[in-house]
Amino acid sequence: MSAAREANRAGGDWLSRALGRAGALPPEELEAAIAAGRVRVEGKVVTKPFAPVTEATRVTVDGVPVSLARVTRALMLHKPQGVVAEGGRDARPSVMDVLLPLLDAGQRRFGWHAVGRLDVDTTGLLLFTNDERLVEHVTSPKTHLAKRYVAKVSEKATDAQLQPLRDGVMLDDGPARPAEARLRGPGMVELTLTEGRNHQVKRMLGAVGLPVLQLHREAVGGLVLDVGAGAVRELSDAEVRQALGFGG
Ligand code: URA
Repeated sequence: MSAAREANRAGGDWLSRALGRAGALPPEELEAAIAAGRVRVEGKVVTKPFAPVTEATRVTVDGVPVSLARVTRALMLHKPQGVVAEGGRDARPSVMDVLLPLLDAGQRRFGWHAVGRLDVDTTGLLLFTNDERLVEHVTSPKTHLAKRYVAKVSEKATDAQLQPLRDGVMLDDGPARPAEARLRGPGMVELTLTEGRNHQVKRMLGAVGLPVLQLHREAVGGLVLDVGAGAVRELSDAEVRQALGFGG
């Protein structure tokens, strides 16, 4: 088992993750800084990124104290079309390629995680956070946080076709939870899910004979997308607490 997985299983945290969350150094510099001996833990140089730490551990980077007390930050990005969730070997731009140039120097020091994923052709609200607990909260099948989508389908779609979605349609990986579904206009379906399985909206609408032509996510929990395509804004603590139901 990797050292990171071991620390995670024990409910613990490790140095590079905690420093990334704290915005101590830009993520691309972090591991090199630790390896170069620029980081001290309780006064001693530590060169292992997976060294265990807690919120109370005293850490310095280049002699400057860094608080590891958890502070949750979150961003909303209006994901444009044609952008993939992860770069890797895909030549198309990733959500990180879109996000990072939009951030100021202070924001770029944090390690940002996408909160869930949207398909390459889906547009709309994608959250990012420095706090993996918020990722877990929003994406966990146990939380049932509502995610609202608008899908363009055939103009012949009828309200009656949406009824199985309200009842809980059967998918190839089991029944979907009953969803709110309504026709917003000819060929425009609003669908609110309280779970987030792979390609779920497309699969649910496909199951009732309405292949999705375009898909947009406009809300997560009580948070409604309010920036233009390709733009980002930071959420307030109150939004994270009230709209996403996370934290104290
Ligand atoms: N459901 C889908 O089918 N695709 C998405 O991108 C999000 C939800």
